[in-house]
Amino acid sequence: MALLKISKLGNPVLRKVAKPVDLNDLTEPGGELQTFIDNMIETMHHEGGVGLAAPQVNQSIQIVVLEYAENERYPGEGSIPLTVLINPVLSDYSEEEQDGWESCLSLVDFRGLVPRSTTITLTAYDRNGKSIQKTVSGFEAVVLQHEIDHLKGLVFLDRMKDLTQLSYQEEFEEFWLKKEEEASS
Ligand code: NI
Repeated sequence: MALLKISKLGNPVLRKVAKPVDLNDLTEPGGELQTFIDNMIETMHHEGGVGLAAPQVNQSIQIVVLEYAENERYPGEGSIPLTVLINPVLSDYSEEEQDGWESCLSLVDFRGLVPRSTTITLTAYDRNGKSIQKTVSGFEAVVLQHEIDHLKGLVFLDRMKDLTQLSYQEEFEEFWLKKEEEASS
């Protein structure tokens, strides 16, 4: 396995619409895609991310990986098992939205307040080409919307309603996180 280089904002690959994966290529014995998926997972773990989309490692194809187990960037959000999604599509976006502070490995050190639907339906394939359909809510729904946006050439900045709510991580902790903790205590 190998670590992959993260594409940062400004790299045109992040602004391209990613191509669907051919499922025959995916399941081909000894094919490159299975190794690529393993490398994506290793890179996500190494970078401490909750999710990673293929364009973020310079491949404009529709693959997303996610996993979350008590990540210090998102305390108290429950957990998401390791998931690999091929050609994922979201539908049935709930009208109800919730604002959450997002970050992104391609926008190092930024945090922004982003509204996301609280419930969505996911249709995709797993890494073996088996189809998946499920309704997702909570933090997993937020992560899915964030990662699948990368496949459309979008980043969380594009979803923000108010750019005065964009902050560096250090200032986020000093000026925003404390305020939220005070408000909820
Ligand atoms: Ni991201």
